[in-house]
Order: sequence, then structure tokens, then C-alpha cells
Amino acid sequence: MAIHYQEKNHIFTLETEHTAYQMKVDDFGFLLHLYYGTKISGNMDYLLTYYDRGFSGNPSDAGGDRTYSMDVQPQEYPGIGTGDYRSSALVIRNADESDCCDLRYVSHSIRKGKYGLEGLPAVYATEEEAQSLEILLEDSVSKVQVRLFYGVLEKEDIITRSAKVSNQGKGCVTVEKAASACLDFVAGDYDLLSFWGRHTMERNLQRREIGYGNHVIGSRRGTSSHQYNPAVILAGKDTTEEHGNCYGMVFVYSGNFMCEAEKDQFGQTRVLMGLQSDLFHYPLEQGETLIIPETILGFSDRGLGELSLLFHRCIGKHICRGKYQYEPRPVLVNSWEAAYFDFTGETICRLAEHAAQLGIDMVVMDDGWFGKREDDNSGLGDWQVNEEKLGCTLGELIKKVNGVGVKFGIWIEPEMVSEDSNLYREHPDWALQIPGRKPVRGRNQLVLDFSRKEVRNHIFDAICGVLDQGNIEYVKWDMNRSISEVYSTENRQGKVTYDYVLGVYDFLEKLIQRYPDMLIEGCSGGGGRFDAGMMYYTPQIWCSDNTDAVDRLRIQYGTSFLYPVSVVGSHVSAVPNHQTGRSVSLHTRGVVAMAGTFGYELDLGELTEEEKEELKAQVKKYKEYAKLIRNGRYYRLSDPFRDAYGAWQFVSENGDKALLNVVMLEVHGNMAVNYVKLKGLKRDAVYEETATGKTYYGSALMEAGLPMPVRQGEYLAYQMEFVERENMS
Ligand code: GLA
Repeated sequence: MAIHYQEKNHIFTLETEHTAYQMKVDDFGFLLHLYYGTKISGNMDYLLTYYDRGFSGNPSDAGGDRTYSMDVQPQEYPGIGTGDYRSSALVIRNADESDCCDLRYVSHSIRKGKYGLEGLPAVYATEEEAQSLEILLEDSVSKVQVRLFYGVLEKEDIITRSAKVSNQGKGCVTVEKAASACLDFVAGDYDLLSFWGRHTMERNLQRREIGYGNHVIGSRRGTSSHQYNPAVILAGKDTTEEHGNCYGMVFVYSGNFMCEAEKDQFGQTRVLMGLQSDLFHYPLEQGETLIIPETILGFSDRGLGELSLLFHRCIGKHICRGKYQYEPRPVLVNSWEAAYFDFTGETICRLAEHAAQLGIDMVVMDDGWFGKREDDNSGLGDWQVNEEKLGCTLGELIKKVNGVGVKFGIWIEPEMVSEDSNLYREHPDWALQIPGRKPVRGRNQLVLDFSRKEVRNHIFDAICGVLDQGNIEYVKWDMNRSISEVYSTENRQGKVTYDYVLGVYDFLEKLIQRYPDMLIEGCSGGGGRFDAGMMYYTPQIWCSDNTDAVDRLRIQYGTSFLYPVSVVGSHVSAVPNHQTGRSVSLHTRGVVAMAGTFGYELDLGELTEEEKEELKAQVKKYKEYAKLIRNGRYYRLSDPFRDAYGAWQFVSENGDKALLNVVMLEVHGNMAVNYVKLKGLKRDAVYEETATGKTYYGSALMEAGLPMPVRQGEYLAYQMEFVERENMS
């Protein structure tokens, strides 16, 4: 059993293979947090301390006891108005307009399997793999109830948290703020690692001390955003890649979120992960419920590298779904950077013919195939094939592509509408707009109100009308602007940001039910919605619109902390690169793109014969390594923001094979040698580097490293395969 309840002292213990999480219902019914970290024995309620603290009030239950204050106690789900002045997990405006939510324990239940969340993505697991705990809390005055959910995946060292807030009282209450996870630490100094970015430069690592006051990151853009990813790591001050304690918190949600980290007056730390409170005032009528999206928690006492492995496994095995969950993904060539809007059916066919010759599995027709869409100013919403532009029907085009032995994929952007479109002319009220105000345009387009069912249904039917025209095996689902008009002409105000995201999930779920074998790649101007919520529907996501191999090293480095390589959409593009103007070799571009789903984003017809040969060999190589890359363990071997090289490594589950990847970032005259230390090998095993036949002990490769050649040339890349052998040669 992974979940234990001690009746006598009301202590809950959640145990995974290497971690423990403990909480207690105290004498007043408050649910206090006791411990989360390395597995321990015994009850941790001795950690709770009681002192008379100035200006920290005492609940009336405590009578004259001035040493009892919610302002000081570590809690599982702190509500507003209880005398706790730190950030609250839940802020409720009651029907009488008071802001208070004093949650006390009512009951609990423990069951086999993992709880699910209606309409929302969540970690899934079999009855054998997980257990769930549900704790019911209630505010006895307002009758607002909160059900806290804990999912324990013992083998994976993962604990999930979610909450359902429901109004069992009279009148309407408003949820002003709600988190799904709160981690309170009574002691310790921590750093918060978060991933900030911008369009074409996503998920840069920021490591910052959690000091006094609140450090807040989040999104108000309607999507999880390029700017801050909804995933953080809390690490001890001395924690490194290989050593020390660290906690991961990954929010399984694709909309506005908020993560707060604060150190309080007594040096205690609180971290909250949940919904963004701005642009959110969720009304709950009597009997209504709001589900707070899930947060995945993981802990490692062996550094950030091990923490990453936990999350890679959890997301790969318990979030991603469908036919392609473990299957090798098709190597694809996408028409975007090859032709942008300037293509015909002929262009796509030529791309397919080249693809066939080079061993590429699929051609993807990106933006520009529908309605009136010669640039990004018009046509969104009109999901009718532009047969004039293609020179044939879509069905005919797909047949031609399939005819040369290549699969066919297509781009869509269902959530959007151009003002210059038939859809907008017919249904202007379907776009999110605030009456009486002029809209903010993003990429000259507006956002459809996906919180409304009839809007979703219309787009769903139109898109299915296209997808049914032929053998379409892949869809790229794009979303190319931030939401700014948070107002729905039909839906209740305050609900829009949340209901919009649930609308997107509803659409995606229907799509994958209808086309279970179709691979969907998520995208939002690259990695603007790169989150575990989307990964539940789209097992790969275009990682960034930046295809420059050197920038990608850094983007993929940041991404790797909490997300697996199997979800990282990554392509080789032309040089000079379209985003940066930088030129690096085809080899280097290939090595970097192989740390992802791998594909191409260039006009194959423009390549020289020599380049084609190299590319062909590259595809072949990728396919040889695809399994190791997909299913192996991923290790970061350097920090490309600091070190002279970017290096990472894939190791097979049983450690008998490894693929080392290195890209030199610096070159100097008479340069010093860089030694790259490998990870995750068997210490006593002998490994042969297959290209040279040289053999090494695992311990040597990990402790002393491998000298990288000193060569002239910028951004040289090395890819070396190591295979376990019986003996040293
Ligand atoms: C976004 C995507 C690109 C491409 C264009 C098409 O920017 O990230 O990959 O699909 O839209 O308009």
C-alpha cells in the first residue's frame, strides 16, 4: 500500500519507492503538512512547533492559546481569511461578499488506481500502478467544499495533486484564486528554477533564491505561454545535476497559470502552483463544481538529472497517449520554412518525391492550403481546401503523395479567425471581443470563443470535413496569438479563460477519439503552449519556431529539465538560418534535431547532390538510434549557457548502449582540451565506441571523461555510439 492512514493520530503517509509525503488532521480539523522528501520512518508531527508569535492571530478554536496560529503552521491547502497571511491556495468570495474560506477536515477515502479529472488532462495509471487519496474539507459557514486528490505512483516516485471546489451552500460563490498544490516547508533555504522565454527563445533556465516576499511567475495570455513555462523546480542551495534535494512541480494545464514561491517571516517556504488569479472570477452556483488542474510532484535526493528522469518517465508513460506513445514517430519534412505561403500542389508533390528518395517518411503541408490565405492576414476560420491553389482536390494530392511512398500531414489553427474571412463575416460574435471596444489584434487575427460549444462544433465539423478527404496521418495544431479580449458574449464572465482551455481539450479529445491513429503535433508559434496538458492530447509539440541549431541547444536544454525528448518537435532547417542568419553544418543541425522527434523544414529540392547523400545517411542514422533516443534515459552533460560545449547523452534502459552528442560552442587559437564526462553507464562494464573500436570502462568515461578533439571550425558536432562489450580490446 502506498497510502496509509493512522486512525489514532490522523496522519496520512503517502509513500513511493524513494519518497514520503506526510500530513495530519490536527485537533481543530486543519490539514497540516508534515513532510515531503526522502523516505523516512515514523511520524513527523514532532516538527510542528507552537510559540506565541506577535501579529499572528489565533483561531477561536484555540481559545486562549496564543501559540496556535495558521500564520505559522505548514498547511496542505490554505484558504483565505483564517489568519494565515501568506499566499492562499484558495480565495473564495462568498455569497455574502465576504472573503473567507476556513477549510476543515470532514472525511477521506483511499482507493486503488489513479483518480481522473472530468474534461481535464491528468496522469493516468492502472489499478496496480497507482493509488488515490481523496480528502474532503469544508467551510462550515459557507458550505464550500474542497476535495483534495492525491495520486501516488509508487514505482515512478510521483505524487499528483488536484482539487475540486464545490458550492454546497446557498447563493453564488466566486472562486477568485485556486491552486492545486501547495508545498510548505518549515525550514531550509531553497532556489526556484523556472523557465522563462519569448517567441523563438523559449524555456531559458533561471535559478533564483527564494527570498522574503513573493516570487511569482505565470501567464495571463490564455495559453501557458512562451514567457514562463508552467513547471518549476525547487532545489536546495547546493543542489547540482548530480547531488542534492530537488522537487519538481509540473502543472498539467495549457492556460493561464500562476506559481508563487515565498519565504515567510520565520524562514519557512511556501510554493503554490495553480490557476492564474487575474482574469479569473469563477462563479459557482449552488451545487456547481470547479476542478483545479493537476500538479505533478516529484522529488529526488540525487540532483536535477535524476529529477528530470522521473518526469521524463512520468510524462512519457502516464501523460502521453495513443498509437505513437511508444512507436517511432515519422521523420517528416514540413513545408513552412521550405515555401511559407508560396506553394502549390506541385510543390508538395515535389517535396514528397525528394522525401521518398531520402528516406523521409512524411510530408506536412503547413499553413496556406485553405480559404483565402496567401499571407497571414486572412482566411483563418474558412477550413475549405483551396483547390485552385493546390491544382487538384486534397484527396488527389494525398493520393499522389502516398503514391510515392510518403505519408501526408496537414496544418490547422482551429482556435482562430481572421476578420477577413467568411466565418467572421457570418459570425462576428464568435470571436472573443469586448462589446464597445476595439480588439487587440495578434498576427492580425482574433481568437474564437472556444468556451462556446456551438463555435467548437462548427469548427470541428469543418476540420473533419477536411480530414475525411484522404489518408491524413498527422495534424499540426497551431495557436498563433495570445488572448486579450477575455469576454464571452454567451458564457458567464470570469469563466472564459478556464472554459476556453476546457473547450480546447474537449475538441482535441473528440478529434483523437475520431482519428485514433492520427499523430497530432501541438504548436503555438513554436513552444508557446508547451505543457503537460497539451501532451495528453498531442504527444509531440513543436518546441520552438527557432530552428537555429545553436539556439536550439539552449532551448532544448531548458526543455529537458521536466519534459521528455519524445515530445520535443525538432527539425533540421536551411542555412543561413531564417531566424538568426547563422550557418552551421548539416551534421551539427542533424545532431541537434535528433534530440527531438526529428524532421526537416527546408526545400529538399535546393540541396546539392552531396548534401542529399549526407541527408540520406542522416535519416538512416536517426532511424537506427530512434528507439534509444525515444525510450532511453536522457542526461544533460553540460550547461550550454555557460560551458564551451553543449553535450547530452541517451542511455538504453539496461545501460548496454549509449549515444553521446556534443556541439562545440567555442573555438580558440591553440585551444584547451574539453573533457566530456558521460553519465548513467554501468561502472564496471566495458564500452566500445563503435566508430573507432576503442574500448573504455564505464567508470572511466564517467569519472575522467572523454577528450574532445581540438579542431578548427565553428559549432563542430560529435555523435558517438558506445556499446557494451565482453572485454577490453
Ligand atoms: C506558427 C508555427 C510555424 C508555422 C506558422 C504558419 O508560427 O509555429 O511552424 O506553422 O505558424 O503560419
